[in-house]
Amino acid sequence: MMKKTQMRPLGLPGGGSFPVVTPIMPSVVYASATPDALDHMYENGGGYVYAREGHPNASVLAARIDAMEGAQGGIVTGSGMAAVTAVLYGLLRSGDRVVGGDQLYGRSLRMMTQDLPRMGITCVLADACDATAMRDAITPETRLVMIEIVSNPTLRIADVDAIAERCKEVGALLVVDNTFTTPRGFLPLERGADIVLHSVTKLLAGHADATLGYVAAKDPTIMAEIDGCAQTMGLTASPFDCWLAERGLMTFDLRFDRAQDTARRLADHLSGQDGILQVIYPGRSDHPDYARAQSVLRGQPGNMVSFELKGDRAQTNAFTHAMSDISFAPTLGDVSTTLSHPVSSSHRSVADADRRALGITEGFFRVSVGLEQPDALLSAFDVGLEAVRSI
Ligand SMILES: Cc1ncc(COP(=O)(O)O)c(C=O)c1O
Repeated sequence: MMKKTQMRPLGLPGGGSFPVVTPIMPSVVYASATPDALDHMYENGGGYVYAREGHPNASVLAARIDAMEGAQGGIVTGSGMAAVTAVLYGLLRSGDRVVGGDQLYGRSLRMMTQDLPRMGITCVLADACDATAMRDAITPETRLVMIEIVSNPTLRIADVDAIAERCKEVGALLVVDNTFTTPRGFLPLERGADIVLHSVTKLLAGHADATLGYVAAKDPTIMAEIDGCAQTMGLTASPFDCWLAERGLMTFDLRFDRAQDTARRLADHLSGQDGILQVIYPGRSDHPDYARAQSVLRGQPGNMVSFELKGDRAQTNAFTHAMSDISFAPTLGDVSTTLSHPVSSSHRSVADADRRALGITEGFFRVSVGLEQPDALLSAFDVGLEAVRSI
């Protein structure tokens, strides 16, 4: 979107005062005084012409996320996938080779393995937790590498330092999808990434009522290519969604802390219970990547907990049915806790053997912990477990 400045609150008629809340500006088009004024805006930024190229609510939101990510000149897009699209289609050319973490978000994986090859781009996947596998995959021909720090839904921790080092060695761009980790848990641009992106839809906006993305690059030339793609492909965010997300961001730190505290409690509560085979939480010392989680996530293991229930479809049905107060819905980062079941949702089209290799069985659940009263949430899980045991 067009170069922007931080939006100032609009003055109200009568002068002297201004709204303390950002106004929503839905205008699709902006009138200019003269052709010279229009030239000046296109060349120097600082104004708006057409909403697909940028609008005040997107600028305000982008500037706020920039400040959290330690970025400059980031843009907001109409969804997290629009941010992924802007990066991949804005930067890659036919003949390029890309590497992706093999547990990226499902639609990102699909774009890399099914859509990019149609454009003559080769994609290789590797386990982002395995430095050797990543090193081998990131050849000198690799133009771009995309990873997430915490894998979904198995919550493993990427060996991001090794990956960043290898990317530098071969001159590949490192893109980090920071949706799960958020700037509280990880700052990609400070730790070797060239580009950071988000599904703002999730924890940042936080209320399951706005679909948005964000992307920022360290290098302004690369950022301009991403931005140009977003403008041309119409990956624009709606002003109202931007406004909702700006409002959501005001409580982000509070929401994050509360959800994380409850997630820790839930993980400890579930662990060792009859009917639970394993609990995966990066803040627990029994997590397979605990040491790396400590270093990478800086003591912020986040609000996501996965666990494996003993049993089959009868048990998983009984569990979700009994937990009627908790939404059984494949999303995350909402004020309400959501429970997702990868076998019947995100990983339903993954071959059984491949799912098992990832450790995703019928009993595998992922919880996005929200802001409910913690004791009430633990009790809701007890009700679910009791229903499973009584089968
Ligand atoms: C890690 C991650 N990245 C990207 C996306 C895509 O975001 P959106 O749904 O806003 O397009 C999601 C959505 O769940 C996600 O979990």
